[in-house]
Amino acid sequence: MTKKILVTGGAGYIGSHTCLLLLEAGFEVVVVDNLCNSSLESLRRVEKLTNQFIRFYKVDLTDFDSLSKVFDDHTFHSVIHFAGLKAVGESAEIPLHYYEQNIGSTINLLKVMQANNCKRFVFSSSATVYGDPASVPITEDFPISATNPYGRTKLFIEEILRDQSKADKDWQIVLLRYFNPVGAHKSGMIGEDPQGIPNNLMPFISQVAVGKRDKLSVFGDDYDTPDGTGVRDYIHVLDLADAHVKSVQKIDQFRGVTTLNLGTGKGVSVLEMVKAFEKGSRKSVAYQIVDRRPGDIAECWADPAKALEVLGWNAKLGLEAMIEDTWRWQSNNPLGYEPSE
Ligand code: NAD
Ligand code: UFG
Repeated sequence: MTKKILVTGGAGYIGSHTCLLLLEAGFEVVVVDNLCNSSLESLRRVEKLTNQFIRFYKVDLTDFDSLSKVFDDHTFHSVIHFAGLKAVGESAEIPLHYYEQNIGSTINLLKVMQANNCKRFVFSSSATVYGDPASVPITEDFPISATNPYGRTKLFIEEILRDQSKADKDWQIVLLRYFNPVGAHKSGMIGEDPQGIPNNLMPFISQVAVGKRDKLSVFGDDYDTPDGTGVRDYIHVLDLADAHVKSVQKIDQFRGVTTLNLGTGKGVSVLEMVKAFEKGSRKSVAYQIVDRRPGDIAECWADPAKALEVLGWNAKLGLEAMIEDTWRWQSNNPLGYEPSE
């Protein structure tokens, strides 16, 4: 029988790519999203690309009753929980909203799942839970901490899931700690569509290359790194999506909480990324060096060995593909999903 997966936040950047790969892998997909940071157009395009149907509910996960009704309509094999707010700066300005949205939503979801005896759960965590790591590469047993309210929501949710798993041994939980997701589907039809000024490096660079913004501000060139700029582990969104598919395929073999880093294991600096993007897009990317961004760390990259061992997953797509695919999406859709609405 076809397994049905509930994808919360499925209209968003990582969620839409995951829905596509789930459908291609033969799963049935139901999406719950309040569209606060996304457009239904992403799912329409996934349907076009796969020639398959996605049942969509415009529901806010903080609304317990509406969420319960979704579970009245379906029996889910497992839940992949992407929904959440993710802007680090904004989380420091409106922390209560972040705690209510991210933690409140997750508690509602877990309660509804428990009531419906659905206990397989894949959660979008983040490398942000490693705080300022003492060394790189980072393994899953490094101490966890948080430096901002967004990061604390991820950390608290991880703790809540560990507590729930201790209380009820039937839960099968996978915590996926993403490093820096970038890239887009090869078709150029779905990709990252940030609202307003992008916070993250890759969408900012691609908006400069497409002429939407004047220049990139490079946040500091005096870090203790080879060229002085910040080093991160960029990972193609399709590789990330693939790890979610493998997680739901293998989740029955897991007990308790399984925590996995999703990264490539390679660090790339801001200036290396700018140069590589210029080469891949054949556009120039103007930049200026400015002060460090408060809260940023020098280096963050994964040891991804555990995901290979446990999930049989490793990142297959390199920097060239990440840039080529970002650029195809950005140049085909300079205004994101807007024009087709
Ligand atoms: P996104 O904003 O594109 O997707 C999140 C989706 O959740 C959006 O479609 C939004 O409308 C929806 N949503 C938010 N709050 C909701 C609520 N209360 N009820 C229903 N829907 C709600 O973000 P993304 O980049 O696809 O990230 C997905 C997940 O991965 C998030 O939990 C994020 O914190 C985590 N993550 C992202 C990154 C990254 O850099 N993109 C890194 C690490 C972890
Ligand atoms: N950077 C710039 N200029 C910009 C944006 C970023 O120089 O305009 C630099 C940053 O200083 C950093 C690197 O580019 O050195 C990457 O920055 P991002 O904002 O793209 O990513 P971060 O590593 O800061 O954070 C991201 C997500 C977090 C998540 C973390 C780990 O934004 O939510 O990855 O997964 F927690």
